[in-house]
Amino acid sequence: MSLRIEKLSEHLAAEVSGIDLASPIPEDAFAALKHAFYRHSVLVFHDQDIDEDQQISFSKRFGPLEPTMVNDPSGGGGWINHLSNIDEEGNIIPPADPRMLYNKGNSLWHSDSSYKEVPSRGALLYAVEVPPEGGGTEYASMKAAYAALPEEKKKNLEGLVAEHSLLHSRNKIAPGLMDRKFQQEVPPVKQTLVREIPETGEKTFFVGAHASHVIDWPIGKGRDLLEELMEWATQPRFVYKHAWKPRDLVMWDNRCSLHRGRPWDAANHRRIMRRTTLLGDGPTV
Ligand code: OGA
Ligand code: MN
Repeated sequence: MSLRIEKLSEHLAAEVSGIDLASPIPEDAFAALKHAFYRHSVLVFHDQDIDEDQQISFSKRFGPLEPTMVNDPSGGGGWINHLSNIDEEGNIIPPADPRMLYNKGNSLWHSDSSYKEVPSRGALLYAVEVPPEGGGTEYASMKAAYAALPEEKKKNLEGLVAEHSLLHSRNKIAPGLMDRKFQQEVPPVKQTLVREIPETGEKTFFVGAHASHVIDWPIGKGRDLLEELMEWATQPRFVYKHAWKPRDLVMWDNRCSLHRGRPWDAANHRRIMRRTTLLGDGPTV
């Protein structure tokens, strides 16, 4: 096996080639992958022929998986989120259907599961079918964005805690999407605004669509700060845009990056993706 890792943009994302994710990966190659993952935050693999079990096995080598939420229409409590606009009968789900609106939450810049007490460490998304145009996924480096902040600003962020909530982010798409049962499954949580990543010792800030406000601050002032940081992190210089091909697998570090899905002609073209999610180490506060 001759593993190659090539950067795809200045601040994040690298393409990995010379590896077959369906075959056993030797320990030294896996160590190199892990190192690349923590360094580049996003890894792209092309032409991978993997089924659900193989995706789960590969994902688990990075650590325990996070189960999907019972009330999430794309999850249902299993290990895989099925992000698809196709129903069980093979028909396109109308864009206004609640299942599609729920998935539309992914079009806002976010970090997966930041609304859970233990936020996700990372995720792996595999493309089964992709539309001919659109439907890309964009990644932004919170790590590089934090590093580029003026020192004075960094100091002002120390010690701040934000409330994150799935209800908050889904209400931006369509109020009423989450029933009471779903809301009870994911009550709001607190996340520190500045995190240190244990594997690298690097610092990063932690924002995204689920971040609602800053604890102990007036709501408006906290929202303005979270908005400002999100805008800062998603400047073009910190962003990598992925255009999917079938059989691509992209994995990302949710602690160091934000991502968002881009629109496509969902009423006419199929897009079928599956995601496994890496469980975080513990609460951030
Ligand atoms: C996700 C996600 C975006 C997309 O799977 O976590 O945000 O482009 N996906 O499907
Ligand atoms: Mn996501």
